Order: sequence, then structure tokens, then C-alpha cells
Amino acid sequence: MGKDVIIACDFASAKQTFDFLDQFTDKKPFVKIGMELFYAEGPQIVREIKRRGHRIFLDLKLHDIPNTVKKAMAVLRDLDVDICNLHAAGTIPMMKAALEGLTRPDGTRPLLIAVTQLTSTDQATMERDLLIERPIDEVVMHYAKNARDAGLDGVVCSPLEAQKVHAVCGADFLTVTPGVRFADGDVGDQKRVMTPAQAKEIGSDYIVVGRPITAAEDPVAAYERCVREFVG
Ligand code: C5P
Repeated sequence: MGKDVIIACDFASAKQTFDFLDQFTDKKPFVKIGMELFYAEGPQIVREIKRRGHRIFLDLKLHDIPNTVKKAMAVLRDLDVDICNLHAAGTIPMMKAALEGLTRPDGTRPLLIAVTQLTSTDQATMERDLLIERPIDEVVMHYAKNARDAGLDGVVCSPLEAQKVHAVCGADFLTVTPGVRFADGDVGDQKRVMTPAQAKEIGSDYIVVGRPITAAEDPVAAYERCVREFVG
């Protein structure tokens, strides 16, 4: 898989999602389905988007005991998505169990990536609520290394961390980065942002872009601009 733009389909219903996706008649974009849409519509929404020819990143961020995650991943593997994820905080045994569950009898499986520390968690919150006192950058890199050691394919990280993740975990370890905005666009609630061109420059493998595309007046044009700037 090469560099690509993944559209975050943060919609509340199947209708809104298909109204949005119906606008794309040429190229079928890679889409991300998150908890809101999945919990509202169930696995059928995944099957339908797949049937329409889209690649899918199913962003459900699993985190539980290894046996439970393994069994849940075994269900997800039959949805035939392209990327799944989990929380690296679930530890290496959980990540290894997830990979086992995700692997089909013929040895194929969706890519599996890990969330390190959520970008909503800052140093102060991590120290106060989680009693983790190391610098947050060190924690993020440690979780990324754990994910790599468990056999995962990459991490979700801020575009600002992508370069370092590649330096620490290898160039082939995927970095999937949200927090992307056009140079002339609204930043919204994202605190640390990069343009698609900057994300390309620092070596992100995939960018996850939501509102700059979904809330644009012309979503197809915004998507195409994003692809032009990021993939070239
Ligand atoms: O609309 P926007 O481009 O901000 O959407 C970014 C997407 O990436 C959302 O689905 C958001 O939940 C997700 N995300 C994020 N930051 C993270 C992890 C995921 O923005 N650290």
C-alpha cells in the first residue's frame, strides 16, 4: 500500500454517509469508519461501503484482555477491512493476541495499527490520572516500539511524531496521521496541525482528513486537492 488520503467519515447515520460518498463518482476514496457510525449502524455499514468499492480503516480502538480482543478481531477479520486498530496500552500480549485473531486461515489479514497516547492526553493528565511520569514523547515512542515488537504494522500518531516513529521503528513501520488542515483552512479543535504537503514532507504514510473534506463546499474538490498535495 502506498501513500494515501483517508477520509474520516464521522457521520451519525448510514444515510448521511452515503449522501456524502455518492458524490465521489470517479475514484473511490479510502475511508475511516469510527465508533459513532459503527455503533449506530452495525457491521452492515462496513459491508456496504466495502461493496461500493472503498478501502476501509475501521477505527474501533480495541482495548481489553487478550482473549477478548483476539475473539473480537476474529469477527472483524471477516468484514474484510483494510486497516484495524487497538490501544497499545493494552500491552504486548494483547497486541499479539489481536494479530492472531485477525489472521485468516490462509495467512492474510488486515493491517493492524496501534494508538499510542491519545492526542487529547497531555503530560499533566498522564501524570495525574495514569501515574505515568516519563515525558510524553518517550511514552509515545515506547508504545510504538511495543507495537512493532508485537508484530503490528504501524501506529496512529500526530504528524509531528511521524518522523521520529520512523527513526525509532523503521521506515516500513506505518504512520497514520490525523490533524491535517489546508494552509488556508479552519483549524477547528485540532491543536497541532500540518498541511497535506508538510505531512508528505515529514514522511506520513497515510493522512486521515475529516472536516476539511466532509464540511467543504465541494468535498470532491477538497479531496482531490488533498491527494494532489499529499500524494503529488
Ligand atoms: O475532522 P478532522 O480532520 O479533525 O478529523 C480527524 C479524525 O481523526 C477524526 O476522526 C478524529 O477522531 C481522528 N483522530 C484525531 N486525533 C487523534 C486520533 C484520531 O483527530 N489523535
